[in-house]
Amino acid sequence: MSSQNIYILAIESSCDDTAAAVMHNGKILSNVVASQKIHEEYGGVVPELASRAHQQNIVPVVDQALKKAHIDKSQLNAIAFTRGPGLMGSLLVGTSFAKSLAYGLDIPLIDVHHMQAHILAHFIEEADFVKPSFPFLAMTISGGHTQIVKVSSYFDMDVIGETIDDAVGEAFDKSGKILGLGYPAGPEIDRRAQLGNPKAFQFTKPKVDGLNFSFSGLKTAILYFIQKKVKANPNFIAENLNDICASIQYTIIGILIDKLKLASKQTGIHHIAIGGGVSANSGIRQALKNGEQKFGWTTYIPKFEYTTDNAAMIAIVGYLKFLEGNYAEQNVMASARLKI
Ligand code: KG4
Ligand code: ZN
Repeated sequence: MSSQNIYILAIESSCDDTAAAVMHNGKILSNVVASQKIHEEYGGVVPELASRAHQQNIVPVVDQALKKAHIDKSQLNAIAFTRGPGLMGSLLVGTSFAKSLAYGLDIPLIDVHHMQAHILAHFIEEADFVKPSFPFLAMTISGGHTQIVKVSSYFDMDVIGETIDDAVGEAFDKSGKILGLGYPAGPEIDRRAQLGNPKAFQFTKPKVDGLNFSFSGLKTAILYFIQKKVKANPNFIAENLNDICASIQYTIIGILIDKLKLASKQTGIHHIAIGGGVSANSGIRQALKNGEQKFGWTTYIPKFEYTTDNAAMIAIVGYLKFLEGNYAEQNVMASARLKI
């Protein structure tokens, strides 16, 4: 087989998005995501509903990915899937599907770590995008994770800082809930923040030593602040929503950038990448770009569609592992708490 002609089908089902992508030699041919709307009315992801929706979505999503890529499944060289971390019921749907397909087609099965995929998404072949050079620091910011990772090579990654409580995406989502916004609130806070004054209200940043993060105190501070203001003026939220969103976002970005500055200083590494759902945030993208001038960083910001959960990022890891001949056995098990 020519190493120049490799087709990977990737499946991602770790949380509430059912996704499939087809990659050819590191380039994305199709990237399909079915987002589950059912969770909005509950204000968060309901695991049992998520796995049921994955079961309904997975066949049409995979079909669509193959159709959009204009390839037949007989052309595939391997099936990559998210093994973990994530919700067990959701992971099981993607894992079982990937195993059966790989078995049926008699091609290799490749297990992928979801958070490594958020980082390695930077290595998808894209015109006008420069790939990070090793070593670099990657800050993974999502609804389930907040980590700073030292990346020495594709599969040599060390977590050098992480949250001790809530993830940064949860800080956005929980703040949104306090303000009566829908789930997930991150994108809405981002949209409103661009219309508001970031210095309108001050929230104290948590004091956590070293490179670790904490967001639960900030959420409580926001809750008490809002309760106090609403008591004095029942229309406080409606009258100040954009300013409140801008101030919350400004505080969260400040926390993230402070830790990145410290990580860069401690490691002497100035190449910095971000990944995960929160890296879609316009404020963090701008703050990172500003770091190039301010702190001499070289920054890597993913294409928008590779930030929130997607299968393109699973495909690139599948491709890189395929090149190394690093395959999974048929008895590989989904793992909700897989470590990097
Ligand atoms: O990576 P992701 O899609 O799923 C997880 O693995 O968690 O991240 C989802 C998280 C949610 O918390 C959502 O509110 C947040 O990413 N998010 C944002 C933005 N877009 C998505 N947070 C802030 N600003 C955004 N533009
Ligand atoms: Zn994710």
